[in-house]
Amino acid sequence: MSSNETTVTCPVCELPLCFRDEAHKTLVCDTGHRFDAAKQGYFNFLTGKGTNFLEDTSAMVQARDAFQARGHYAPLADKLAEIVRGHQDSSSLDLLDAGAGTGYYLNQILDASSAVNHDALALDISRYAMRRAAKLPHTLALVWDVWRRLPSADASRDVVLNCFAPHNPAEFRRVLRDHGICIVVTGEPDHLNEVIEPLGMLSVADGKLASLAEKFAAHGLELSHTQQLTYQMELNTEDLYNLAFMGPAGHHLQPDALGNKVQSLGHQRVTASFGVHTFIPKA
Ligand SMILES: C[S@@+](CC[C@H](N)C(=O)[O-])C[C@H]1O[C@@H](n2cnc3c(N)ncnc32)[C@H](O)[C@@H]1O
Ligand SMILES: [Zn+2]
Repeated sequence: MSSNETTVTCPVCELPLCFRDEAHKTLVCDTGHRFDAAKQGYFNFLTGKGTNFLEDTSAMVQARDAFQARGHYAPLADKLAEIVRGHQDSSSLDLLDAGAGTGYYLNQILDASSAVNHDALALDISRYAMRRAAKLPHTLALVWDVWRRLPSADASRDVVLNCFAPHNPAEFRRVLRDHGICIVVTGEPDHLNEVIEPLGMLSVADGKLASLAEKFAAHGLELSHTQQLTYQMELNTEDLYNLAFMGPAGHHLQPDALGNKVQSLGHQRVTASFGVHTFIPKA
């Protein structure tokens, strides 16, 4: 692939997009659709009526970044990197992260990868999340809604990653190569259970694995492996504040009231409990 070619497709006409310039600031398709990078480096493909989403705010994304930077979810990042390494059999790794947030897991996976060439696509509806993901090496960050057709060519990805974000199995299957894997991370029922109520958070626990597996199987992805990762985190008041603010309740929580709550709770030992599910294309 030349340095101006991409595996990204035009959100309007589905033709391949190429960079028009060496600086990789403008993407164009043969029909003539054109997308210019925002000054922070990401591309916003959600133009027109797609722009009225309730995106994670700048403060929520900052809270997520600060929490992840403290390493509390590093065991999950290590697990994901280990799974991807176990499936690598080529010199290149093409990854798509659907609902990537800051790109924390994507970055850890690329860092641990033994591939020579990396090509990562981070998709998220939050412009603030994509500002951060756009800074990561080998990563193209696109503001996009994962419920829609993904802007990636058929069979163009070795790995689709989907952590605590909406699932679109039909599209995950379409963009995956036949030897690829789709890794879905969900919250287990005991995830953060000590603090959900006291901090006014919304539970992120997903439904039963059987219904997830059924939904994916209906779109040609079969559950090949599942594991639970559970451990205790020691969280100080700043961690607790960020944890509450980075989740879906961050849209509604009042910073002052949350600050008072975390101060009265003090240091807490909190359960992290993830379901890590690997899906493969059905033979
Ligand atoms: C709980 S966060 C997880 C982010 C990241 N995967 C992580 O684990 O750090 C959920 C992410 O999904 C994004 N999101 C929610 N709905 C989306 C949609 N329809 N399309 C794309 N992204 C979406 C949010 O903006 C947010 O960044
Ligand atoms: Zn086009």
